[in-house]
Order: sequence, then C-alpha cells, then structure tokens
Amino acid sequence: MQRFRFEKDRRRYLIGRGVLRTLLGRYLDLAPQDLRFETAAAGKPHLASGQGQLQFNLAHSGEFVLIAIADGRAVGIDVEEVRDDFDAGEVAAHFFSPGEQRDLEMLTGRAKIEAFFECWTRKEAYVKARGEGLSLPLDRFDVSLRPGEPARLIATRPDPAEATRWQLSGLDVADGYKAALAVEGQGWTLQFWDRPDELA
Ligand SMILES: CC(C)(COP(=O)(O)OP(=O)(O)OC[C@H]1O[C@@H](n2cnc3c(N)ncnc32)[C@H](O)[C@@H]1OP(=O)(O)O)[C@@H](O)C(=O)NCCC(=O)NCCS
Repeated sequence: MQRFRFEKDRRRYLIGRGVLRTLLGRYLDLAPQDLRFETAAAGKPHLASGQGQLQFNLAHSGEFVLIAIADGRAVGIDVEEVRDDFDAGEVAAHFFSPGEQRDLEMLTGRAKIEAFFECWTRKEAYVKARGEGLSLPLDRFDVSLRPGEPARLIATRPDPAEATRWQLSGLDVADGYKAALAVEGQGWTLQFWDRPDELA
C-alpha cells in the first residue's frame, strides 16, 4: 500500500486484495485471512504451495479492479481506461511489434485510439499470464487489433507453437475501458461476474 501516493489508489489496492482473498477463500473453503501468497521473481503474486491449484491475476485502472481466477492454468488480465491525450503511434513504436504498428497505422482518429488500447490490453494480459514481466520482449508476439477483430494471439517468435498454447479474450467492462484476458490452453469457458452480489 505504501507504494501509492494517492488515497484513491491505496483504497483500490485494499479493495482488490480484500475481494481477491474473499473469492479465493470461497473456492478453497478457507478463511480469507488464512490464505498465504508468494511473489514470483518477476513480481506476479500467486497462492503459496499447499493451497491447491487455483491461479489468479489482478488488474486495475480508473474505477475498476478486475480479478481473473483459473483452475490449474496460468491466467493474465488487464484493463485500461481509454485516453486520447498522447500520440498512439509514438507509444506503439516503443511497445508494439512491427506487424501491430502496421495495423495501427492504417487507422485514424477514434478507431486508432480504440485499437491502440485493444492491442495494449491484449499484450499486457498475455505478458501477465506468462508472469515474466518485462523480460518477455513485446516485439516477440503479435496480437489482433483491427476494429471488430476478436482478441487473438496471432503469432509468437521464435517458437510459433507458443501461439497455440494460449487463448485471448476481450472483456466488455464499461464504456471508455478496454480489457482482455489471456488463459493457458484451450477448452475453457469464461464466467464473468460484474461485482458479485454478495460482495457488494
Ligand atoms: C507489473 C505489471 C503487471 C504492470 O502492470 P500495470 O499495468 O502497472 O498494472 P495492472 O493493474 O495491470 O496489474 C497490477 C497487478 O498485476 C499483478 N502483477 C504484478 N507483477 C506481475 C507480473 N510480473 N506478472 C503478472 N502479474 C503481475 C499484481 O497483482 C498487481 O496488482 P497489485 O499491485 O495490486 O498487487 C507488468 O505487466 C508490467 O510492468 N508490464 C509492462 C508494461 C508495459 O510495458 N506494457 C506494454 C504492453 S503493450
């Protein structure tokens, strides 16, 4: 909590951790305060060993905290508030792959901004699922970003098979936000709760 300068960020952090503990505790039939967490080398938190095989990831932006929980497979989630007070092409030149930059350059105006955040959240969700942080070079994989195109990990380098090991999904959170989920493997189904009633 001490990392955050602003009260609203500290509050959001506390709410996120509280809801995360409550949800995981329900799945595991443990009291929220009894859960133990560890942090991997690149910073991804996970349940300490001996507490089952649930994996989770958390993201926050603006008013939202998103939590993804998966049974026995890696998961990553990201949410971003859409803004237009920056040069999307310039930022993309630093963070997007050449193919993604080309797709983005074909767009203008609002469509370009929306596509930028589709791409950003899809890349970030994949990076977070992998849990390797910034040691995973962002130009080693391409995600879909063209308007209307479903979230997809298009290609991975140097191992093209890596792209088949993950599935991306866009999440419809609210107007003015983009969000994405990356999950290891195929054949899973997504259940989405907008603020579980009993936690309200
Ligand atoms: C640390 C990182 C997760 C930053 O994410 P962010 O956008 O600042 O924050 P988010 O809200 O998405 O996620 C934060 C949460 O992710 C989790 N997290 C932290 N390190 C993580 C990691 N290495 N892998 C997965 N999840 C991680 C934590 O639960 C954290 O929440 P907490 O601070 O409340 O504990 C990391 O992905 C990062 O720095 N990414 C690079 C950013 C970037 O250049 N992205 C380019 C995309 S095109």
